[in-house]
Amino acid sequence: MAQVSFLLNGDPVELVNVTPETTLLNWLREERGLTGTKEGCNEGDCGACTVMVTDARGSRAVNACILLLAQVHEKAVRTIEGLSGPGGDLHPVQRAMIEHHASQCGFCTPGIVMSLAVAHSNGRRDFDTVLAGNLCRCTGYAPIIRAAEAAARAPVPAWLAEDLSHLESYLEERRKQAPHRSATDVIALPRSADELAAWYAENPEATLVAGGTDVGLWVTKQLRSLGKVALVGCAADLRNIDIGEEQVRIGAGASIEDFGAAMAGIHPSLAELIRRYGSVQVRNAGTIGGNIANGSPIGDSPPALIALGAWLHLRKGDGRREIALEDFFLDYGKQNRAPGEFVEAVSFARQKDRLRCYKLSKRFDQDISAVCGCFNISVENGAVTSARIAFGGMAATPRRATQVEAALHAHPWNEATVKRAMGAFASDFTPLSDMRASAAYRLETAANMLMRYFLEDQGVPANVLEVAP
Ligand SMILES: Cc1cc2nc3c(=O)[nH]c(=O)nc-3n(C[C@H](O)[C@H](O)[C@H](O)COP(=O)(O)OP(=O)(O)OC[C@H]3O[C@@H](n4cnc5c(N)ncnc54)[C@H](O)[C@@H]3O)c2cc1C
Ligand code: FES
Ligand code: FES
Repeated sequence: MAQVSFLLNGDPVELVNVTPETTLLNWLREERGLTGTKEGCNEGDCGACTVMVTDARGSRAVNACILLLAQVHEKAVRTIEGLSGPGGDLHPVQRAMIEHHASQCGFCTPGIVMSLAVAHSNGRRDFDTVLAGNLCRCTGYAPIIRAAEAAARAPVPAWLAEDLSHLESYLEERRKQAPHRSATDVIALPRSADELAAWYAENPEATLVAGGTDVGLWVTKQLRSLGKVALVGCAADLRNIDIGEEQVRIGAGASIEDFGAAMAGIHPSLAELIRRYGSVQVRNAGTIGGNIANGSPIGDSPPALIALGAWLHLRKGDGRREIALEDFFLDYGKQNRAPGEFVEAVSFARQKDRLRCYKLSKRFDQDISAVCGCFNISVENGAVTSARIAFGGMAATPRRATQVEAALHAHPWNEATVKRAMGAFASDFTPLSDMRASAAYRLETAANMLMRYFLEDQGVPANVLEVAP
């Protein structure tokens, strides 16, 4: 029985003995000779390896270099070799790239074409965002964007539009023959949170793989063995995002992209922060659970969620517990999570939107935060009634600025209060100097973010990216 099954450029692939460490990119290039998908950085940064992955949730661009082969189980994969039609007809994006001279050395071109083809299928026209994860060193983006705009007018070719229906009939046929999902001794493909909980409680030494945007790099950069793995992404119920009247609950398996889209209507500043999180490819693969569970001090979603007062749903077997998100992060690389326990979801209360998130990084797109400050300050009758302020990049873990909060609470919401509170940052944080920023820069910019919040709240434009006429 096959262990990992999917459609590759429309044709079924059934593989046995897939190792957890096999990446999709290596398999495509080395086992299938599909060398159109390029290897540039091998760490998710350049987009040369972009492929299209389709399932019931739609088509997405992802980086094949850090995607484990097993992660495409029961999905349809298109590479650049499968983008043109059966008779060799070019995809509208391919034709437009030629007509607009949008390629020189061509190394980036397959990845760019795949990103644009996915955008074309999804009717997206925000090409700056779509291409933020595709580096081109020699053409320059103007001809590429012109090509994308020209192609947008053409219909989606039938051979791509049919990928999903082909996948559905393939899976239906497969399930008739083998009603249970394939799994190996080393790769578990749990269909639900319950299945994951039962398996992980019995295999607490295993590695959970959600989007693989961290774990993929352990394989490609650190050459680590993963041991047994469970693919969190197979559990459909873990991907649910529920925006209720009272609470918002985000399943751990929800992608960063879906999380950002869900936040747009309720906390637009958080959605804007997420637009600057990695690239489309990284956000399509990465999950909210992975971004929390990895305990990174510079992850972007934890400070925002802490500022919103979020709590975490942890699960081990049938046992569940809830803790405040800020209490999950104990120390650098140390989280409040027992062996066999996993993040099931994160929740926060519905509230008036007072959240502003400020990300400071060396590049606007596709860069890790040097400092990420998230502010949620309520004001009534001119005085601060509550303040939740959390930072990434300022300590060994995502951390609240409790002294700054105390300096604001119950004080008049004015410049004098804000200036005094800015002085409290040094009591809250002793940041490090590293390649992203010096300690002094971090401390100064963090305090300035509070002033920015105040000024924006007074209607004073403070966004340096928006040029006033
Ligand atoms: C090119 C690039 C750019 C990036 N840019 C950013 C950025 O701008 N901002 C940012 O915050 N991050 C960024 N990252 C980091 C990364 O995308 C995130 O940390 C991501 O959210 C991890 O999620 P994942 O689903 O891919 O996790 P995985 O890699 O699958 O897992 C990460 C860790 O979490 C564990 N894990 C996963 N899910 C669970 C769960 N449900 N319960 C318990 N443990 C779990 C895994 O075992 C592993 O230890 C970037 C990464 C890359 C490669
Ligand atoms: S090779 Fe650079 S993102 Fe994959
Ligand atoms: S055409 Fe050379 S890197 Fe883009």
